[in-house]
Amino acid sequence: MRALAWQGDRLALLDQRLLPLEERWIECTSAAAVTSAIRDLVVRGAPAIGIAAAWGVVLAARAGEPLEAALAMLRAARPTAVNLMWALDRMQTRIAAGADADALALEARAIQDEDLAANRRMGELGAALIAPGSGVLTHCNTGSLATAGFGTALGVIRAGVAAGRITQVHATETRPWQQGARLTMYELVRDRIPARLIADSAAAHLMRTGAVQWVIVGADRIAANGDTANKIGTYQLAIAARHHGVKFMVVAPSSTVDLATPEGAAIEIEERAPEELLSIAGRRTVVESAQAWNPVFDVTPAALIDVLVTERGVVAGPDRAALGALFGQ
Ligand code: MRU
Repeated sequence: MRALAWQGDRLALLDQRLLPLEERWIECTSAAAVTSAIRDLVVRGAPAIGIAAAWGVVLAARAGEPLEAALAMLRAARPTAVNLMWALDRMQTRIAAGADADALALEARAIQDEDLAANRRMGELGAALIAPGSGVLTHCNTGSLATAGFGTALGVIRAGVAAGRITQVHATETRPWQQGARLTMYELVRDRIPARLIADSAAAHLMRTGAVQWVIVGADRIAANGDTANKIGTYQLAIAARHHGVKFMVVAPSSTVDLATPEGAAIEIEERAPEELLSIAGRRTVVESAQAWNPVFDVTPAALIDVLVTERGVVAGPDRAALGALFGQ
């Protein structure tokens, strides 16, 4: 399963808005189309939007469009996941060095291939931390659909299941967009991994039963002090995990680490249309004229994170010193 495929002159994106009921691919032939696809959540998940944006730059170069304008447009598609800006910075560096469309395609391919390799490595590193026979809880979708393949948190879960370390997975529904219900359960069921869906509001109750030894999540931006932005609801899972003695693991490639952002309070949190909250599957469920607030990420303080798994290594108790040592120049 994959979220996107470069087809020589176009970028094909699996339309995640329609999953799991329909598998329909969208073809993007311009940077503007890729920008819209990222903004509208056709493609989503921090690494996947960075990869899609890199291919968007290739499309702009092939069309002879002004590349600075294309970079600015793609950069503004979504604000929180730093992988988007990281991938565009890499493309911009190649443009500044005089790269043509073919050379830019090589860079986009490298970004995509490196992400897949990072996920495989994080899978090994993260799974090794989990005792055999464990139950885990995950949030949002961090699998093949959110990355170049295999996944970040879901990659650790895949590797942990294969190694017999994880015997039961719980996935949160992840309201309002339902990435967990629609996408994570789709991936888990296809892989025949023992998994149960829970309502977001059932998480603390589940932890109290003793069925969960680890909460395993991805990240959209990790600040220099280890504070971590991820899908809305991650913060309350971390609080509940600490209360119940459940370990909390963040799994993210180095492209998610942003040493230029000193702490979580400086991370811009995307707020999306209230309509996402006022409706379910396109059907209005709340009384007309009701107001809603729809922040789609939150920040988990570093102090609530037991371990950060990256492809460069595992950080127990992530903080400014540990991140600086692993990711500093
Ligand atoms: O709004 P989304 O679906 O793009 O949010 C995705 C998440 O928050 C994921 O947990 C995060 O990107 C890590 S995915 C590898």
